[in-house]
Amino acid sequence: MQSLRLKRKIDHIALALKQQGQSYMSGFSQVDLLHNCITEVGYNHVSLSTTFLNKNISYPIIINAITGGPKLATNINIKLAQLAKELSIPMAVGSQTIALKDSNYKTSFSAIRRVNPKGIFIANLSAKSNVESVYQAVDMLKADAIQLHLNPAQEMVMHEGDREFSGLMENIVHIKEKLDVPIIIKEVGCGISYGAALELKKIGIKIIDIAGLGGTNFTSIEGMRKKYQPIDPGLYSWGIPTAYSLAQVSAIKDLTIIAGGGINRPLDIVKALSMGADYVSMAGLFLNLSHNYTLKESLEFMEKFIKEIKIFTALTGAKDVSSLRKVSKIYKEDIKRHMNREP
Ligand SMILES: Cc1cc2nc3c(=O)[nH]c(=O)nc-3n(C[C@H](O)[C@H](O)[C@H](O)COP(=O)(O)O)c2cc1C
Repeated sequence: MQSLRLKRKIDHIALALKQQGQSYMSGFSQVDLLHNCITEVGYNHVSLSTTFLNKNISYPIIINAITGGPKLATNINIKLAQLAKELSIPMAVGSQTIALKDSNYKTSFSAIRRVNPKGIFIANLSAKSNVESVYQAVDMLKADAIQLHLNPAQEMVMHEGDREFSGLMENIVHIKEKLDVPIIIKEVGCGISYGAALELKKIGIKIIDIAGLGGTNFTSIEGMRKKYQPIDPGLYSWGIPTAYSLAQVSAIKDLTIIAGGGINRPLDIVKALSMGADYVSMAGLFLNLSHNYTLKESLEFMEKFIKEIKIFTALTGAKDVSSLRKVSKIYKEDIKRHMNREP
């Protein structure tokens, strides 16, 4: 079973890398930010710095859960931790189950704390994990928070998937009662609907990562692993596109929203923040950087990337994340149907 887990981790990295650059639909073309010709915000006046879990960060960007376990994963995690340190942004690790089953794999996760002792790191396990596993995962990283992932679509298609979901919400409540670090509930590429987010809020969840459809696609990855040809190709495009998911959940008050899933362009980040995301998360883009580029090259790329986020922000007339919320934008009819729900 453990060698299967190891093989799965390597498959996921290889297949997710193949998906990068393919054109998926995260839905942000449904939103137009309006150019502001009378902007008085100069490029140097834009500040993207904010706080995350009461700590200062330079940008509202999170390196999302990717991996851990095999040597390849250790190298990726170390590079990502270096990037997170240089950029002063938080980083999540991939599912730590592999290290809970075999302690030899712990260092592939804990190494990131040595790279960046003061960094903001987020542990990761399935939302179906027991409390003891959650304690251990948090302790492994001395984590500031834990992501509990929901991936029913992936499990359904995964050959060796766990297709039993009963007691899920009760389990989250139980973990929440016992844990004293914040919990982030996240999807892995199928999005979170208004109704699901509301239910999560009702049980006391304060932070969600919608991880919608449009980027790394795990139903398709699991299908590719077994060369499964579905009768209905809709199996590989199941989920709520990220922008639509964001349009739904942003109506819910007092919920911190991380927008992820297919976000890999500066303009999409500005759109997501303007639509109500507090932060954006990216996995595919950071996997690509850490695997295919040196740290120096990755930092040069990110410098350019952030420069363009600032340019778009200034051109809307906004100077920071909170003023971006108020800038003029037009929603196309399709996405409008997902909006304006009052909790
Ligand atoms: C290779 C790879 C492995 C991943 N493994 C995990 C995981 O173990 N746990 C998790 O919560 N999400 C995992 N994810 C999902 C991401 O955190 C993210 O939610 C999803 O990929 C959508 O973002 P993206 O389109 O920017 O990649 C993984 C993503 C990639 C690319």
